[in-house]
Amino acid sequence: MGIDADSLGQQILGDWQASLAALEWLQELGALDPMLDAPLNRYDLAEREVAAARPQAQAAAKAAPIVTPPAPKIDPVAVAQDAASRSQTLEALREALTTYPHCDLKKGARNTVFADGNPKARVMIVGEAPGRDEDLQGLPFVGRAGQLLDRMFAAIGLGRASPDAERALYISNVMPWRPPSNREPTPEEMAMMGPFLQRHVELADPEVIVVMGNTPAQAVLRQKGITRLRGQWTQAWGKPVLPMLHPAYLLRNPIAKREAWADLLSLQTHLRG
Ligand code: URA
Repeated sequence: MGIDADSLGQQILGDWQASLAALEWLQELGALDPMLDAPLNRYDLAEREVAAARPQAQAAAKAAPIVTPPAPKIDPVAVAQDAASRSQTLEALREALTTYPHCDLKKGARNTVFADGNPKARVMIVGEAPGRDEDLQGLPFVGRAGQLLDRMFAAIGLGRASPDAERALYISNVMPWRPPSNREPTPEEMAMMGPFLQRHVELADPEVIVVMGNTPAQAVLRQKGITRLRGQWTQAWGKPVLPMLHPAYLLRNPIAKREAWADLLSLQTHLRG
């Protein structure tokens, strides 16, 4: 069967129109959008865009002043509170105190003077700070004042070496490090050590606290004037507290031993009651 030129022309025209319509339809769908004259690797493009932006960023960084974020401000008292409250035993508290980094007194001290005596004692003595002898030996009240303290308490039957809690003493200080030239601790130093001292008392849990001298009266009772306070029973941290004159003061003022003796008898009466 033959085909004439007219029908052939019609058929070609029909195919062409169909193809064009299909192409237009694809173009409408966006199928031709990515087509360029040359192939384009869009991963390279991302790299190139970043590389192009880099010098601008570097220039901007150079122009801008370097701002180092301020170091977070450390509150030494809050750190002490946290360390002390985490300590669940006296040994843990000793470790927390020994590794506490914010008190500069530690830098000049040979030892951290934590405590001596029997931690089960009914009586806990709180002194001021280690002196030379205490710093060398790492124990509280071992110098001349300490020897007087031992004699004073022996007179009412109490001693740090006693294994019997009834007759024992447990001894510590407000400050565990010797201040230079035995100066008084500053309010800042005392504030840092306050949480450790309070936790020390909580963990040892004595029946009675004896504060010896002005510094422990301030630390425990928040009061000054030991010559006025001495002998007056009071309370702190839920415990009876007896303020007494410091044995170093008694060495300089032997006449005041009379008052110290009266206070020791008052302690003895309290313990017997
Ligand atoms: N004086 C104190 O208060 N404490 C000591 O440990 C020694 C002397």
